Amino acid sequence: MLPDRALDSMPSPAARRVRDVFDAMKIATRVENKQVLVGLAPSVARGFVLKEGKQGTPVGMRASHEAWFDFRYQGDYPEMYELYRRAVQNQWDGDRQLDWSTDVDPRNPERPVLPLELAPLEGLAAHGIRLDRDEQLRFVHDFASWLLSQFMHGEQGALYASAQVTESVHWVDGKFYGATQVMDEARHLEVFLRYLETKLGKLYQVNDNLFTIMDSLMRDSRWDMKFLGMQIMIEGLALGAFGTMYQVTREPLLKELLRYVIQDEARHVHYGVLALKRHFAELDPRELREREDWTFEVACLMRDRFLAHEIYDEWFSGLMKRRDWDRVISDSPFLTQFRQTMFRRLVPNLEYIGIFSPRIRAHYEKVGLTQYAGGRNASQLTAEDLLAA
Ligand SMILES: [Fe+2]
Ligand SMILES: [Fe+2]
Repeated sequence: MLPDRALDSMPSPAARRVRDVFDAMKIATRVENKQVLVGLAPSVARGFVLKEGKQGTPVGMRASHEAWFDFRYQGDYPEMYELYRRAVQNQWDGDRQLDWSTDVDPRNPERPVLPLELAPLEGLAAHGIRLDRDEQLRFVHDFASWLLSQFMHGEQGALYASAQVTESVHWVDGKFYGATQVMDEARHLEVFLRYLETKLGKLYQVNDNLFTIMDSLMRDSRWDMKFLGMQIMIEGLALGAFGTMYQVTREPLLKELLRYVIQDEARHVHYGVLALKRHFAELDPRELREREDWTFEVACLMRDRFLAHEIYDEWFSGLMKRRDWDRVISDSPFLTQFRQTMFRRLVPNLEYIGIFSPRIRAHYEKVGLTQYAGGRNASQLTAEDLLAA
């Protein structure tokens, strides 16, 4: 790594680019499983180095999966068919069922989108950055816009991933269910976009980590990797983030929007664990090991690296080192609560589907994530449980 002195002497756009390349290299060098590294590396390059998600133009990602027809129509996944029926009955219309006439002021401290006490104000002050009252309210407005923008970008990824999964699963019950998820994700994209455009008035570009994970899933030809990545990891991340936001926001329209979305997401993760539990039980041990390693790497990416560099660039570049910002934001009350919710949901799902062997458990132990083992998995949790937590 270049010494900070060298980076500090560079003009800020150049220093940022060098840091991004080093970030990408750090991810690459910590991945132990060669196959996982080979699989992730092109997406890391497209996300962190080429910044394909930030070019302001449509981005092509070549799909390489096969579409599978099931002409047997045997219905051998009754639990999945049951989920499909429930999804059909619970469809909702974001235009009619949400009250878009609600007057939202993202800087109103009485009904905050994101309460001020969750912002990393103390951490910033420790680095000599003191925001006045007006700046604090602007900061939480921007941070909430950044976070909801990432939710929205993730929903676009979920929309295409669920469309791909619908094609690539082999059984008709999965296709029935997948089609409802495609509709769900389109609606989620619609309502987050509408909320951002008409209520918060600000959209942020896609975060490099999120882009990298989505790019890697879109291009992977294996249906179970798409399931694992999207239904378990990204949906798990989303449920953690949505759940935390649902708990803390005092803005009624956003709260109601999240309540509807969380109910759908609970079904999506349930679908993922049902499909993978059966599949992983029959998988070749070498292939299962690769999936365990891949999941661990993505879990670390999600734990360490959802660090709002887009906010840093806009607010604090030149005022503090990015390395310091990473620590400040990572230790902030909101991110701490978010990580706990996310991993409390995620780890039991990994156990349930069979990718939490003693070998990989030792890796999770090292990064402090085994404390979440033993909890209830997605097949045992209702939407009400998720909203209450
Ligand atoms: Fe969604
Ligand atoms: Fe979803």
